[in-house]
Amino acid sequence: DKIKLFAPATVANLSCGFDVLGCCLDGVGDEMIISKNSDQKLRITKITGQDLPLNIEENVAGVSAKAMLTELDEKQGFNIEIKKNIKAGSGIGSSAASAAGTVFGINKLLGEPFSANELIKFAMEGERLASGNAHADNVAPALLGDFSLVKSYDPLEIISLPSLPELRMLILHPLIELKTRDSRSVIRHNVELTKAISQWGNLAALVSALYTQDYELLGRSLKDEIIEPVRSILIPYFDELKDLAAKNGALGFGISGSGPSVFAMCKGDAVAEKVKAEFQEFYQDKNIDFDLHLSKIN
Ligand code: HSE
Repeated sequence: DKIKLFAPATVANLSCGFDVLGCCLDGVGDEMIISKNSDQKLRITKITGQDLPLNIEENVAGVSAKAMLTELDEKQGFNIEIKKNIKAGSGIGSSAASAAGTVFGINKLLGEPFSANELIKFAMEGERLASGNAHADNVAPALLGDFSLVKSYDPLEIISLPSLPELRMLILHPLIELKTRDSRSVIRHNVELTKAISQWGNLAALVSALYTQDYELLGRSLKDEIIEPVRSILIPYFDELKDLAAKNGALGFGISGSGPSVFAMCKGDAVAEKVKAEFQEFYQDKNIDFDLHLSKIN
């Protein structure tokens, strides 16, 4: 009647797939304990690591759980305890981890009335609360692992894509908080056809690269001419970091989700460690506070 779980961090967009592509990191994430209670109430009993509201209506875990229990017409109550290791507003799916972890845990305790894919729509309600937009590109990979593609939002259709064994994801988080809501507000809503053409060409190539295990093509597909030029202005020394990543052998580099974290995708530990050391030295020289995480994608 109790479950302890790890709710993973995720990287959304991956340059060419704004709002439709994301991947799941291993080793970075929140810890949660969810248990059944006997008084038919949904409660967030404790949150450590971050200052977040315990009120069900104001918390992404609360609204996701409520959406799920309402659809099931389920009266069972649950206590939710969250240890936040992912900082809110860091760009690696903090709200998604809480939302996905909650619906995953409750589903398990109820004997799995839903498949993992069916849980996505409930977790998206958490994203709606957090950012004003129910995007699925963090909650889907958090629930399904590896890479996820949102084929369509209406009707919701999510496709699981494989990962590659030697992929390493380096996340550099300049310690400033950037709310997804705010970094969505700077995006233009119209796209030039020539830019759209390169974006969908890259997205299709990326999917092909995952199936053909073509690391080099995967790296060359991590490009974004639409969102990155606007959002990268909010990230300290974005262009310099991008050059450093390329010079030191990273496959690709871009903004993680809505930022301010950036990612460098690498093949193998040696390259990833090299890029990590370069990023570290660069930000230390500039006196910028940061966190660095290195993980696999699975
Ligand atoms: N696709 C979303 C955005 C992801 O870029 O706003 C937020 O993590």
